[in-house]
Amino acid sequence: MNAQTIAPAVACRALSVRFVTERRTVTALENVSFDIPKGAFLSLLGPSGCGKSTLLRVVADLVNASEGACDVLGGTPEQARRERKLGFVFQDAALLPWRTAIQNVELPLEVGGGIKRGSSPTPRELLRLVGLEGWENSFPHELSGGMRQRVSIARALLGSPQILLMDEPFGALDEITRDRLNEELLRIWQETKTTILFVTHSIYEAAFLGQKVLVLAANPGRVREMVDIDLPATRDLAIRDSAEFVRIAAHLRALLGSC
Ligand SMILES: Nc1ncnc2c1ncn2[C@@H]1O[C@H](COP(=O)(O)OP(=O)(O)OP(=O)(O)O)[C@@H](O)[C@H]1O
Ligand SMILES: [Mg+2]
Repeated sequence: MNAQTIAPAVACRALSVRFVTERRTVTALENVSFDIPKGAFLSLLGPSGCGKSTLLRVVADLVNASEGACDVLGGTPEQARRERKLGFVFQDAALLPWRTAIQNVELPLEVGGGIKRGSSPTPRELLRLVGLEGWENSFPHELSGGMRQRVSIARALLGSPQILLMDEPFGALDEITRDRLNEELLRIWQETKTTILFVTHSIYEAAFLGQKVLVLAANPGRVREMVDIDLPATRDLAIRDSAEFVRIAAHLRALLGSC
């Protein structure tokens, strides 16, 4: 096995990020270290302002480390971005209203030099993967919030990114839709085998989705604990009633309470 095959998907080493503005200096992340193996599902949980989005933005090469480093797929975040190994899903689906669902998914093929699709799934196949077969030609205003978010997931999966970064993608959705999309995301993760970093405020969402949950504390943003979620990889919503899930949720709540 060479170094490339054993490199973690993301490895942060004593990562600190400071934002200096005219009014103040904010330490968004301080001395953050952790590893995520390829193919894993990591949930990021913590109070508002603890640096969750900043951490995703470092991985995505949108923010630079002030100190320390964050390796992505054995190289720099910049290399991973240039080689189009990353997909990003935001809280707001951010679709272009004048383009249909399939045209929105196709967008990365057209902009910024264009993704090379190669042998990876077509936009139509990706819409089927996220449960939107038959909706290809609908415009965003004709879709529900959950459907729009599915389109943005399909778009992020174009080009088969090795890492999918998701920043509170279901935060604005009602609980029933969110539950359904949580189950579908687990299925998509298992089908695509992509590594997922998923930011959420919800203890239940973090524990239901993650193989691990990285709990961050605020002021400054730092690692509170990396929690292993000892549940089967294949999960349905009923698992939230199990004794083990209830125990995990209580542990996460206690950690958040001391953040
Ligand atoms: N571009 C920036 N310039 C200045 N300060 C910033 C910038 N981005 C983030 N910050 C500050 O860094 C800290 C962490 O912000 P970040 O957005 O990462 O938090 P978060 O955990 O994602 O919060 P939330 O749960 O509310 O989304 C905050 O204090 C924020 O004000
Ligand atoms: Mg955020």
